[in-house]
Amino acid sequence: MSESSGPRDAEHGPTGVAHNARVWNYWLGGKDYYDVDGQVGDHVTGMYPIIGEVARADRAFLGRAVTHLAGEAGIRQFLDIGTGLPTVDNTHEVAQRIAPESRIVYVDNDPTVLLHANALLTSSPKGVTDYIEADAHDPDTILRAAGRTLDFDRPVAVMMLGILNFVLDTEEARSIVERLVAAVPSGSYLVLTHPTVELGGEANTEAMRFWNENATPPITARTRAEVAGFFEALELLDPGIVSCSHWRPEATSGSTDEPQVVPQFGAVARKP
Ligand SMILES: C[S@@+](CC[C@H](N)C(=O)[O-])C[C@H]1O[C@@H](n2cnc3c(N)ncnc32)[C@H](O)[C@@H]1O
Repeated sequence: MSESSGPRDAEHGPTGVAHNARVWNYWLGGKDYYDVDGQVGDHVTGMYPIIGEVARADRAFLGRAVTHLAGEAGIRQFLDIGTGLPTVDNTHEVAQRIAPESRIVYVDNDPTVLLHANALLTSSPKGVTDYIEADAHDPDTILRAAGRTLDFDRPVAVMMLGILNFVLDTEEARSIVERLVAAVPSGSYLVLTHPTVELGGEANTEAMRFWNENATPPITARTRAEVAGFFEALELLDPGIVSCSHWRPEATSGSTDEPQVVPQFGAVARKP
């Protein structure tokens, strides 16, 4: 973004506080952030140096998961909640490269993502993309609006990458997932990534405390057991709940070398 940081009005977004969507874009090497986002992003990196690698591994996982779902699994509908700012290989680009008729609904509640949503509305002529400004705490509103584009009688991949960590109450997070999964038919999928202080992520405890005092929205990490709770009643695809960099890594790298473990769980599961 060309503007510098500083207070702005609600309609235009930035108010001098770092926002997750823009800081995530900063860590991914994008350009859609303000000075305050870069400053907070750098401070977090100082406390938790692996965060940039976490962001890149998360996006690479998205690419591999969507490639599998649009390819082998034959999924043609995607509900991507907590989309983030447009970057390379957004969900619709990955899916429509394989199946141009794919229909994708993006959901985020950050005003900056809304400002940039046009870059997500570049569907192939055979498919559709839509953008909904809505809050993950309100799955009914999301489902109602997504129903304009998606047919809930046919399988849908519900994607929640790096977003349930902003629903601080684990019971509420579980009930959001349950509501979304209940709305889609058998043969649908849940795709999820989530930060943890396991997998070598201990330093994230202090980094998240700094984040919660200086940025928005507030974040929490979860254990493997808590993440597993989101998949109850679903069939986890191999290799299960793992560091997202270890979820079928050979699909993108073509290499058999073990990638670096990042403290971010990733998993894909099918609704039986
Ligand atoms: C860490 S980024 C992840 C972006 C993308 N899913 C990815 O994996 O690269 C989290 C995104 O969730 C959005 N978000 C956070 N809380 C949200 C909420 N309650 N409702 C909707 N979106 C939210 C943020 O604005 C941000 O764009």
